[in-house]
Amino acid sequence: METNKTFTMIKPDAVAAGHIGAILDKITKNGFKIIALKYTSLSTDKAGQFYAVHSERPFYKNLVAFMSSGPIVAAILEKDNAVEDFRKLIGATDPSKADMGTIRNLFAKSIEANAVHGSDSDENAQIEGSFFFSAFEKF
Ligand code: CMP
Repeated sequence: METNKTFTMIKPDAVAAGHIGAILDKITKNGFKIIALKYTSLSTDKAGQFYAVHSERPFYKNLVAFMSSGPIVAAILEKDNAVEDFRKLIGATDPSKADMGTIRNLFAKSIEANAVHGSDSDENAQIEGSFFFSAFEKF
């Protein structure tokens, strides 16, 4: 299992607020190399599949509606210890609990509209990256 890759999405709230450039800048300035990048959107079916692991949670339906409400940016990032380091860079799921200077502290609106997604394990990074990108789209 690779330990030097993670997957991220810039979510509809941050895209709509015009934060794509600032977030990608912060990501690259913190030593992550972008090896795949896509500006796209999720249908409700695709958002439901992506977040299927949360299907029993009370917030699942709203999360799926939110994640399919507008365009997103999907990316695969490379760096040593990528999953853990990226989760530090984005901060806690709930932006009110995210450390100062983290991406969610700077750009997120709420626990649901929390600006970015970051994979929670090497295994999920691989699964989530492959959800969006073929081998021909990774460089
Ligand atoms: P993410 O890191 O993409 O993983 C699951 C997402 O579910 C999370 O970010 C939030 O957008 C959302 N989420 C997690 N917990 C809650 C909650 N308590 N209420 C609403 N949305 C949540």
